[in-house]
Amino acid sequence: MAETIANLQIDGKDNPLDIVESSVGNEGLDIRSLRAQHGVVTFDPGFANTAGTTSALTYINGAEGQLMHRGYSIEDLALHCSFLEVSYLLLEGSLPNAAELQSWSDAVRVHTLLNEEMKRFFDAFPRDAHPMAILSSATNAISTFYEEYHNPGDAAAVRESAIRLMAKMPTIAAWAYKKSIGQPYMYPDNSRTYVENFLAMMFGLPVHRAEIDPVIVKALNVLLILHADHGQNCSTATVRFVGSSQANLFASVAAGMNALWGPLHGGANQAVIAMLQSIHDDPEATTESCIARAKDKDDPFRLMGFGHRVYKNYDPRARILKKYADDVLERVAGDDPLLEIAKGLEAAAREDDYFIERNLYPNVDFYSGIIFRALGFPPRMFTVLFALGRLPGWIANWKEMSEDPLTRIARPRQVYTGPAPLDFVPLGDR
Ligand code: ACO
Repeated sequence: MAETIANLQIDGKDNPLDIVESSVGNEGLDIRSLRAQHGVVTFDPGFANTAGTTSALTYINGAEGQLMHRGYSIEDLALHCSFLEVSYLLLEGSLPNAAELQSWSDAVRVHTLLNEEMKRFFDAFPRDAHPMAILSSATNAISTFYEEYHNPGDAAAVRESAIRLMAKMPTIAAWAYKKSIGQPYMYPDNSRTYVENFLAMMFGLPVHRAEIDPVIVKALNVLLILHADHGQNCSTATVRFVGSSQANLFASVAAGMNALWGPLHGGANQAVIAMLQSIHDDPEATTESCIARAKDKDDPFRLMGFGHRVYKNYDPRARILKKYADDVLERVAGDDPLLEIAKGLEAAAREDDYFIERNLYPNVDFYSGIIFRALGFPPRMFTVLFALGRLPGWIANWKEMSEDPLTRIARPRQVYTGPAPLDFVPLGDR
């Protein structure tokens, strides 16, 4: 920080602004003194042009369609790493060596069980409860078993909470699913790897040991890696926002899950499949009618899985997934008519001026649901899978926030537009 590059004139008075330097990409204009010195605030709905923090975790170049974590490209990470390896990278700052990865995997493995009391908690939900509601509630609920680990200033306690969250989330996610189909909850099997264990809890039964296809394990590893972090998106910003009040890590992550659930964010993956299915099933819902509806400003319908606040080019995660979808389908599920519909929809949108002018491309959610489906997951679990993938990013952002000396409680300003002071009218005179 320091060098003055901008001078903002307000009422003829100079206000020199320092820059906050970046290592790559946008630099920041430091506007912290504006209100105190000039009585004005900046106005930026949706924080589209506002950096609330510096971060060393993830870099996105939206114009080029580039994504990297801690300096490594998403393409390399998806090709060469396991999900736990990428989680370590995000949380610890560098790729683990073999011994570090072993010790990290062992640490996570120890904590996969949920307290037995949690079974009653799952039982209490209605059978058709959405698994995202169960996931965020259960994440909050497990915090009650570890209250001595809640102090954000205690690095050892935070590390323990991070490990517990990573370890227990697959169990919670699988139990949320088991609840919805009325099957017994499966205990974790710590002889299995992280992803294999999750799949066994999802698809296994107590009466037989589930054989898990390594192709499915690999595919899910890739999908989780592609979701692992993504800058200051809505759910991650929520985790930081809540954590800035020194709320504990579990509570902050549970809040992030609720933000993720919305259809404009992680909930889009479920909405994409619903959209593709309706084109498949309903003769009136064609590719053309979907595109026309998405363009109609009087219709709230949007082309789900299209568009992104940051990417004005192809989302690199969607690019990887599009290629991967053919491969996965061929190896585990056979053809899926929804993949052909998705490709047709993408081709039509990319030739349409409306989408071209607005730089609307497929985002990560456009093809992920097709692969989740091929791996055997029902649509209502898709956003849960996104949450499972995003967990290390949420934790790493929360840690970065709580260790940053510049962190203050998040508290944006507003521009007030209500009535000016009014004379009070007693009840009987109104
Ligand atoms: N279908 C049709 N039009 C769209 C779409 C879409 N999917 N996305 C954006 N637009 C249009 C908007 O109507 C707007 O048009 P206008 O300039 O004529 O008013 C323009 O493109 C810009 O869109 P904004 O809504 O201003 O963009 P914003 O950055 O606020 O929103 C968002 C981004 C929420 C992702 C949006 O593109 C969207 O709703 N997409 C569909 C939902 C989706 O796929 N969400 C997942 C995002 S990725 C993720 O969270 C993992």
